[in-house]
Amino acid sequence: MNSMEIRQKYVDFFKQRGHVQVPSSQLVLNNDPTTLFVSSGMQPLVPYLLGDSHPSGNKLVNSQICLRAQGFLDDFMEVGDNRHTTFFEMLGNWSLGSYFKQEQLAWFFEFLTAELNLNPQKLYISVFSGDTDSKIPKDIESAEIWKKLFEDKGITDVRVFYYGVKKNWWSKSGLPKDMPSGEPGGPDSEVFYDFETPHDKRFGEECHPNCDCGRFLEIGNSVFMQYVKNADGTFSNLPQKNVDFGGGLERLTAAVLNNSDIFNTDLYKPLISKISKVSGKEYIKENKPYMRVIADHLKGAVFLISNGVIPSNKMQGYVLRKYLRRSAVKMQLLCSKTLPSSDYTEIAEQVFEIYKDIPDNFGFNLHSEAKQKVSEVISEELTKFGKTIKKGLKEFNKVSPKDIDGKFAFNLFQTYGFPFEITNDLLNNKGFSLNKEEFTKEFQKHQEKS
Ligand code: ALA
Repeated sequence: MNSMEIRQKYVDFFKQRGHVQVPSSQLVLNNDPTTLFVSSGMQPLVPYLLGDSHPSGNKLVNSQICLRAQGFLDDFMEVGDNRHTTFFEMLGNWSLGSYFKQEQLAWFFEFLTAELNLNPQKLYISVFSGDTDSKIPKDIESAEIWKKLFEDKGITDVRVFYYGVKKNWWSKSGLPKDMPSGEPGGPDSEVFYDFETPHDKRFGEECHPNCDCGRFLEIGNSVFMQYVKNADGTFSNLPQKNVDFGGGLERLTAAVLNNSDIFNTDLYKPLISKISKVSGKEYIKENKPYMRVIADHLKGAVFLISNGVIPSNKMQGYVLRKYLRRSAVKMQLLCSKTLPSSDYTEIAEQVFEIYKDIPDNFGFNLHSEAKQKVSEVISEELTKFGKTIKKGLKEFNKVSPKDIDGKFAFNLFQTYGFPFEITNDLLNNKGFSLNKEEFTKEFQKHQEKS
């Protein structure tokens, strides 16, 4: 089963249960100045989760293209392991005041086990343990539903785990305390797939579903969005109880393949192969993190450019610039050569191949007519940057790593176009790290001036 079949099966499964398919929004929402990119399927649906009536009804399904690159650093720095990307596709289904926990958990379990044929023995669950500060109770109901679903499959061991707000509370802004007033949120329940890889004790004494060692992969999250934050910091019930479900297609595909590396799925393989070809490097050992970053960033870049974004030093344009320049530096580090920009456009073309058969009603809007524009933008940005990469690296290598501070890093950015993460990566390779605050201060000083 490939990603195309999984995506279609998911949409069909929920259509058969009364849902209407809605198209994916574009990555940049023109009517939402609070956010740079759509980073989850619920984002375009906020007014309907709060109670407005949706033109397509109260049961919706889709696959939303998402980009998580909001943080100055964090989302970027996570890319390189077997499962994190900044760009991904989120399969989503919603109940806008229609069904709730019982239907949602049973349907998702049925989808995983009957449609994707995943072995229920390999699935583990997390639910919300409650929060005294916001007075949101423990989600015993979801735990009981899960217990019964597993029991019906003859599985009686403990596989439902309780976690607190950090893991099992979901809102667009994160923790209850970080939510602005008027924002909806709720407890959630995640499903994890067990790849049964050995536990790595660097991540803690004992392994558990939310452990970061790579054994468990989160493949779906059912948010029970029933609360809204009040101006005084307390929470009230929304007029309706909603379900906001999101599951990463890349990860679901990895689970179906029983291979814990999402870059081995058909959603990345053509990119990895092309990177391998142009760099002359195999997808093995220490090459993997570089190749994964290049694959993720160029995919994100293609979607952004086809969404009308062009490289610049602010907002969405800065993220696109960072994508392209980071790809070029990673490539330089991977194969010790400055490759021509045509090699990058060749890789980027694979993104169109990967998504070419998706029907228009999914709303991805990645049409082959955009190929020309994508090539032009990448060529222009990387031809310019290609001229300074070597000089920047030379400057970097002139100074002892222990003397490289935020100010130096900011100068590398200003003069040679090296974003913070690049200098930080280079330092990490030498066993050092960069002071983020110092760099941010310099960056802000410069922004205020300009
Ligand atoms: N909105 C939820 C998430 O992004 C489903 O995980």
